[in-house]
Amino acid sequence: MVCSSDLSPAATTQENPHRRRSIRSFVLRQGRLTSAQRRALESRWSAYGIDYRPSLIDLAHVFGNNAPVTLEIGFGNGDSLLQQTLGSAERNFLGIEVHRPGVGQLLHRASEAGVLNLRVINHDAIEVLRDMIPRDSLDCVQLFFPDPWHKRRHHKRRIVQPEFAQSIRGLLRPGGTFHMATDWLEYADYMLAVMGRSEGFANAAGAGRFATAQTHRPETRFEHRGRQLGHEVRDLVFVRCT
Ligand SMILES: C[S@@+](CC[C@H](N)C(=O)[O-])C[C@H]1O[C@@H](n2cnc3c(N)ncnc32)[C@H](O)[C@@H]1O
Repeated sequence: MVCSSDLSPAATTQENPHRRRSIRSFVLRQGRLTSAQRRALESRWSAYGIDYRPSLIDLAHVFGNNAPVTLEIGFGNGDSLLQQTLGSAERNFLGIEVHRPGVGQLLHRASEAGVLNLRVINHDAIEVLRDMIPRDSLDCVQLFFPDPWHKRRHHKRRIVQPEFAQSIRGLLRPGGTFHMATDWLEYADYMLAVMGRSEGFANAAGAGRFATAQTHRPETRFEHRGRQLGHEVRDLVFVRCT
């Protein structure tokens, strides 16, 4: 693996990752809550939920142990995140999602399954990363099927940007991984280019390559939909090397 550090000054000049973003990577569709989702949000938030606040959280305190933490951004309805919590009891999972029905859905299913190693934040991930997550604290960050913002004039709304990559780098422990996946090939190429130029990251698959199919993870809802439409899926895994 080659660590990206030999970059031109222009490429290394990052915008301040802590500034407030006015361009958001999502459009909030509130949608209707089912009664099960509403009940779960009311009765299980105290067990699983963490309210957004502009101060750092203590992950060991939140989970009650020091197990490695995987943070997932934009988990949708949470089915794949739930499977991961069940399949990896030795890890902790922190999910961030703005779509409230999806949060309710995950709380409902997690509660039914008796999951203990999961916490959820219902807020813009950009602000959560900036304000709440301690530096060097995460073992893995996952970003699966982020909104591709197809139109060129909307590309600025894509969550994967150079400053976003640097904010993830600061929160991962050295050696920690940033795992992305998309079924939109042009976005996959864009991610590969942005991440390939991101200082402090090495592509686990080798420069300019997508990760292989061995990168197993549960299929997500959006992935399932994309595959049914005939879309190919690309995974990217980058390791924090400096
Ligand atoms: C295309 S969906 C994919 C959902 C899920 N990962 C899947 O593969 O089924 C993208 C999700 O990211 C969420 N999202 C987008 N930007 C976000 C942000 N800044 N903070 C939290 N969630 C965000 C959206 O609400 C949406 O649920």
